[in-house]
Amino acid sequence: YSLAACNTFGVRAEARWYAEAHDDAEVLQALLEAGRLGVPLQVLGGGSNIVLTRDQQALVLRMCSRGVRVLADDGEQALVEAEAGEPWHPFVRHCLAAGFSGLENLSLIPGTVGAAPIQNVGAYGVEVKDVLHELTALDRQTGELRIFSRADCAFAYRDSLFKRQVGRFLILRVRFALRRHGPLCLDYGPIRQRLAALGIERPTAADVSRVVCAIRAEKLPDPKVLGNAGSFFKNPLVSASVADRLRAAYPSLVAYPQADGQVKLAAGWLIEQAGWKGYRDGDVGVHHLQALVLVNHGQATGEQVIDLARRIQQDIAQRFGVALEMEPNIL
Ligand code: EPU
Repeated sequence: YSLAACNTFGVRAEARWYAEAHDDAEVLQALLEAGRLGVPLQVLGGGSNIVLTRDQQALVLRMCSRGVRVLADDGEQALVEAEAGEPWHPFVRHCLAAGFSGLENLSLIPGTVGAAPIQNVGAYGVEVKDVLHELTALDRQTGELRIFSRADCAFAYRDSLFKRQVGRFLILRVRFALRRHGPLCLDYGPIRQRLAALGIERPTAADVSRVVCAIRAEKLPDPKVLGNAGSFFKNPLVSASVADRLRAAYPSLVAYPQADGQVKLAAGWLIEQAGWKGYRDGDVGVHHLQALVLVNHGQATGEQVIDLARRIQQDIAQRFGVALEMEPNIL
């Protein structure tokens, strides 16, 4: 089964076995089937955070469950549940149309509801952990359904329990705590400026969503046009002394102090400074508008993408003494 249409990098690879799950029963069925075949079960959501480097000798299961339910709504706070296979951005729009805020800064992120908590997707000052109430997952070790509170998920920057314990839990549905008149997060990047430029003085969540969509569309390549998996590296966390040393050498360094005293560096800035922005080698390259995004200009293989990523890592380590960590899952 060809996985070319199942990964936003648009890399060609095959799955030896493939299935789609529309409900819990079909998930369990696939698990049993993988067991019977004696092969791993590899779960896919939107395929927007993976690099396929080889054919998959596994049963690849695509999560296709759909459904959004308002479980509670007291006119101010709401609890909204979505099935894992729901595409993320349409879900965000659905919530906004229903008058619920909280997800607006996460507009236009590719992928699915069930995949979002794994890497704690985030953008423009909000992370999924800020709005997630709890989720239901299947524990593949015990076969039991388990409910994880926000605290249970052990979220961190682009990280969670589910990312650290690879493959153990299969997320089935997620519940979000949203608000009708919640505070909006306007502090990140150019959001406030953009709203002002549009003459919007008292923005609604839908206004913020519109602005976020516009900013993303300007910088981030549409996977339908140019294969990619969003940011290819995490923004690295370094000690304050390392950040100070770098700032002395590079006064325009982009760095964000964290609550714990560490400093988060903009990996895109480091990569751009090192001259990689717009780089192209055959069909793999670095996006010309956002150096954190590696792209497939056509027929790139996953191996070629990883090879370029390693060259960038080495260069950044040599120049700045900073280790970049790849962000997508390498399969
Ligand atoms: N920058 C450069 N050159 C570049 C790219 C960025 O100098 O080529 C500088 C920018 O000028 C800016 C800073 O780096 O001062 C930050 O750039 P940007 O706001 O574009 O965000 P980012 O740090 O590059 C992160 C997330 C994105 C998310 C944006 C907005 C990670 C790994 N990436 O990128 O998430 O959309 O912030 O919140 O944290 C993703 O994870 O796939 C993703 C797209």
